[in-house]
Formats: sequence, C-alpha cells, structure tokens
Amino acid sequence: MRVRLTQSAEHAADLVAHEILTQLRAKPNLVLGLATGSTPIGVYTRLVDAYQSGAASFAKVHTFNLDEYLDLPASHHQSYRFFMQRHLFDAIDIPAAHIHFPPSEGQNLLRRCQQYETEIEDLGGLDIQLLGIGSNGHIGFNEPTSSLRSRTRIKTLTPKTRQDNARFYASDETQPTLAATMGIGTILGARTILLQAFGQKKAEAIRATVEGPVSSYCPASALQLHEDVTLFLDSEAASRLSMQDYYLQTQMHEEQLRREDRM
Ligand code: F6R
Repeated sequence: MRVRLTQSAEHAADLVAHEILTQLRAKPNLVLGLATGSTPIGVYTRLVDAYQSGAASFAKVHTFNLDEYLDLPASHHQSYRFFMQRHLFDAIDIPAAHIHFPPSEGQNLLRRCQQYETEIEDLGGLDIQLLGIGSNGHIGFNEPTSSLRSRTRIKTLTPKTRQDNARFYASDETQPTLAATMGIGTILGARTILLQAFGQKKAEAIRATVEGPVSSYCPASALQLHEDVTLFLDSEAASRLSMQDYYLQTQMHEEQLRREDRM
C-alpha cells in the first residue's frame, strides 16, 4: 500500500488525474472504475479540462461506476448517474454505450449484478479503480462487515452512511436505504487502485485502513491485500497515521529511483 501525503486536495487531484491521463495515453481503450461523492470532483474537473484542451480523448474508454442508489431514476438529482453526467460524462466524448452502472431499477437485480461482473470481465477487467472512503471505512457501498470477497450486489446502507449523506436531501425527500454496489472482490480485481481521502472526518477510517488489521469491519482495510494501491491524503485525513515520516521517506526514495530511471 502506497501512502502519498499531499499538500492539499487540489494537489491530490492533480496527481490522480495525471496518473489516469498517463494510463489513457498508453491505452486509449482504458476501462475505468469510477466513484461519486465530493472526493473525486477535482479529478473529474481535470479530466474534463484535458478533454477540452485536446490533450485527451475518452472515445474508446469504458466506465463502470461503483454504485447507485436503488430506485433513484437517472433523472433524480441525487442519483449517481445524474452526478456523473454533470461532473464528467456530459463534458467529454465518451459514447453513451460505454457508460456502465450497476443495476438499480427493475427486476432480477441479482442476476443483473452478476451480468455487471461479466461485462467488466468481457472488457478485460478494470484498469484503474478510483475510490473515496466513507467515515466508517466503506468503499463503494461495501459497509462494515461486508464480505472481503463480495461481488456486485445489493447492500443495505448503515445509519452512519445515511447520516453522512443526509445533507444532500431536502427534508421532504426520502433518502434511499439500499444501493447496488460493486463488491470488495470486484474492486480488488482492478489492476490499479487510486483512493483519495480529505478532511478530519476521514482520519480514523484512514488509520484503520492503513495501520489497522485487515477486517471486514473496516472494508477499505482489504486494500492491504492489493498489489498496486495508492492512497492520496491531505494532512487532515493523514493526521492519525503513526508512521507519517516513514511514508514520506518511502515516497522520496521512489521518486529518486524514478528520476534515476531505475524503476
Ligand atoms: C461513492 C462511493 C462512496 C464514497 C464515500 C465518500 O460512489 O462509493 O464510497 O466514495 O462515501 O464520499 P465523499 O467523497 O462524499 O466523502
């Protein structure tokens, strides 16, 4: 697990967008796993800028979003589909047919969740999975106690997650209690995982993810089992890590070896 202590959320977004754009240049038909929420917005802004300045094209890219609330139509202002159209898809050249979301409406949800897995596999798997993290350690909507091998399925949201997201709903709106989400096993199948976390609210979840034991009680701790995962943290999110000096030193060594072209 690589821990990057960044100067700010803006700096983290620069680094993550740079990584995605570098991989996109090498592989124009990149398969991207995407997240919603406040955390990835800076990355999406930078991807849109890259497209609009002619530096990148998403015409061959396929995207798979992590999760979607059950029974919120794409037109609902709180649906993750709506969020993605607004922050990314409407502003880039990705074909509509290349955009994938886990099934969140209609019948046969479990079978269609399995199909979602098959669609990912048929495109050769996720090249990059972008992640945020919940204050309870969730990734996607894999809430505490989720199986570490879980695949795309329907999950009940915890009271903590609903409370964290309540700010987005008007008092007369019903907040969903269920969501379709990629599983932890699905996420671990991605070749590269980039997780961002900002603010004090994430500090305890980040401590448990990086320095705690692997436990389904902190779903993000399963990332310790992945061979290419990088966490991009601002100083507040990193504030409860006990080995910050070591992470900085590791980062310095890696940068030095890269400069010397030895990596
Ligand atoms: C969103 C998702 C969630 C969020 C997490 C953090 O697609 O999968 O796991 O990444 O709840 O949300 P923010 O970024 O709003 O703090």
